[in-house]
Amino acid sequence: MLIRKPADIPSSEITPQADYLNRRTFMTGMAAAGLAALGAERIGGLLSPGVAHAAEKLQTVKSPLSLTGESPTSYQDITHYNNFYEFGTDKGDPARNAGAMHTRPWTVQVTGMVKQKKMLDIDTLLKLKPMEERVYRFRCVEAWSMVIPWAGYSLSEFIKQCDPQPGAKYVQFLSLANQKQMPEINQSGISFPYTEGLRMDEAMHPLTLLTFGLYGETLPNQDGAPVRVIVPWKYGFKSAKSIVRVHFSDKQPPTTWNMMAANEYGFYSNVNPNVDHPRWTQKTERRIGASLFKQRQTTLMFNGYGDQVASLYKGMDLKKYF
Ligand code: MTE
Repeated sequence: MLIRKPADIPSSEITPQADYLNRRTFMTGMAAAGLAALGAERIGGLLSPGVAHAAEKLQTVKSPLSLTGESPTSYQDITHYNNFYEFGTDKGDPARNAGAMHTRPWTVQVTGMVKQKKMLDIDTLLKLKPMEERVYRFRCVEAWSMVIPWAGYSLSEFIKQCDPQPGAKYVQFLSLANQKQMPEINQSGISFPYTEGLRMDEAMHPLTLLTFGLYGETLPNQDGAPVRVIVPWKYGFKSAKSIVRVHFSDKQPPTTWNMMAANEYGFYSNVNPNVDHPRWTQKTERRIGASLFKQRQTTLMFNGYGDQVASLYKGMDLKKYF
């Protein structure tokens, strides 16, 4: 991975959530005013037919699958320390640049081994099932971690709607790749669209979350608006952001980081303190935003979700299938 020297964001760079949201609304207004001044005939050529979508409150119910006893990472850290290489390689770039992404209208295409191909509208998906708040540990392969109160429902509910054929063994997620809205897309050396995949039983596991929000609001763009996947027992890169297509197949799909460096990033990428990354240890992690004494933490097998998910890998050599 394009690893940056991990450094906490100085608090001076952190904007309280309310200010941040107000500023975003203000800037969207400014942009609209600027475009109006250009005259209608030119607007058509400049705008693609979509808009950035302001944060909305989500009605959530508490989930029994939530962690208890760990304090969530601050909203500021979750939204200003990101990996979203389509918007730049620095941890602060997504917050700076992702505002340009249009998240309405937004559809998710369903392709491959399904009874019928579909286009699902994001506003339909938002209402498909009651939204749950799930507080999960999030462990990045770069050895930092957070605790995040996501909002969503189990991916299995979405997969049922997709009606995959019985022969479908894998599900692949493809992210938006739009040069106009993602000006940094050609700068990182990664080939886009960003793509990730899961085995069908992993995708159907109740912990795997189709994620629409965090801290009770729709996802900010830099965190993968309007929809992403979260697989809490795997390294963070398995969780593709801003998904526009879900593809079912009987073959293991290619995945972005595995294509970049197969010896460093396996398909499975389960959090495993016994399998080090070739360039650094995975035995410990740095908890973003934690006090000095609690910053360095021991990494747990399957990120602490072993009781729920270890059976998925029974009999597998997890050093080989890392
Ligand atoms: N999805 C897309 N489309 N592009 C990306 O660069 N980065 C991945 C993953 N999903 C990435 C992505 C990586 S490396 C990580 S660690 C997580 O998103 C980061 O999620 P966060 O920024 O919400 O913490």
